[in-house]
Amino acid sequence: MTTTETAKQVEIAAQAIRQQTIYRPTVGLVLGSGLSELANSIQDPDIISYDRIPGWPQSTVVGHSGRLVIGTLEGKTVLVQQGRAHYYEGYDMDQITLPVRVMRTLGIQVLIVTNAAGGINADFSPGDLMLITDHINFLGMAGQNPLRGPNDETVGPRFPDMIGTYDPGLRKLAHETAAANNFTLQEGTYAYVAGPSFETPAELRFLRTVGADAVGMSTVPTVVVARHAGMQILGISSITNKAVPDPEPGTVLDHEEVLETGKQIIPRLTSLLRGILQQL
Ligand code: HPA
Repeated sequence: MTTTETAKQVEIAAQAIRQQTIYRPTVGLVLGSGLSELANSIQDPDIISYDRIPGWPQSTVVGHSGRLVIGTLEGKTVLVQQGRAHYYEGYDMDQITLPVRVMRTLGIQVLIVTNAAGGINADFSPGDLMLITDHINFLGMAGQNPLRGPNDETVGPRFPDMIGTYDPGLRKLAHETAAANNFTLQEGTYAYVAGPSFETPAELRFLRTVGADAVGMSTVPTVVVARHAGMQILGISSITNKAVPDPEPGTVLDHEEVLETGKQIIPRLTSLLRGILQQL
């Protein structure tokens, strides 16, 4: 798609949302599977199903719902994107990043993204939460960067700086919030791969060697677009499984396990997100 076409699609989607809510959100939250309780505790929400927003990509994955929940949470006006589309579902980068472009158009400046990831760092255990401090965009490095194509100078620069993408101030706030709730957060580099097949042992050895602490199939295209637009970004990974080249004999990794461990993390992740919102 050309920049003009993308911009037109973004404006149409943003307009459709404006017509379905009176709220003017300032914080965007992208929630992976299982965090519906948090979305459900938004006061007086306007709920917009994705099929009521032209061009909005629908998630086809089990455990991912498809709606925006807009309203007040911990005193902030938030827009929650509940469920996301992934590259492996067949969407292209323009489609995957439409939601964040729309958020920016709606005036959202702070973006909090959550995801599920495999833990590559040997110090990580399933059930840990990891603050993303940096990422490796394998698809982007291979040409599938969502900013490929003509640049819209009204949004951001042709060559955006990616240093400091994951906002140090927000990370500090996250650590303080976790400490106040009596838990700690891991930190690390998130490697973005296309999926949907999980990694082979050789791929995991490679990822470990190049400095990845966790691996997952989402988030990074959204973050690149948000960074380009100058948004403040916080990324949190739920470590749902070990992603190591030499697992215990008989270990099989499946999506069920990812969902199940993800569920156990939810109370901590929920109090973390609430605490951060309170202090924004
Ligand atoms: N690999 C890639 N993506 C993932 C994983 C994994 O091990 N776990 C959750 N998402």
